[in-house]
Amino acid sequence: MSHDLFEAARDAMGKAYAPYSKFPVGAAIRAEDGRVYVGANIENLSFPQGWCAEPSAISAMIMGGAHRIREIAVIAEKLPLCTPCGGCRQKISEFSSPDTRVYLCDDQGVQKTVTMAELLPYAFDTDVIG
Ligand code: THU
Repeated sequence: MSHDLFEAARDAMGKAYAPYSKFPVGAAIRAEDGRVYVGANIENLSFPQGWCAEPSAISAMIMGGAHRIREIAVIAEKLPLCTPCGGCRQKISEFSSPDTRVYLCDDQGVQKTVTMAELLPYAFDTDVIG
């Protein structure tokens, strides 16, 4: 992966609104249109109402007119190699493939690459129903 996705995720993390957890997270998606869409976590005083960086980036992607995640980078300043939470894995899965690469970053760059199949094995899939 070129550095641009890491840098985009890191810049997005700088815009996180995380006054309660103090755990800023950034995500950057390269979509099928080749463009990069970013997001950060946005918390709320009513704690369950906050949301993660990954759905912020997915929302930006959808509103930008794209629908497929080619690759995605995630970064959290306080946790090197922050993996997407369970709910985020399901949300990413909706717009990606088992071989979609997920880049886990630290402040230096991408430190580990995993696939969606590794992150979300036995993903919920209704194809068998027909
Ligand atoms: N968070 C994310 O943005 N993405 C994840 O995949 C894990 C958790 C956020 C949610 C909350 O604002 C903060 O990290 C602490 O859980």
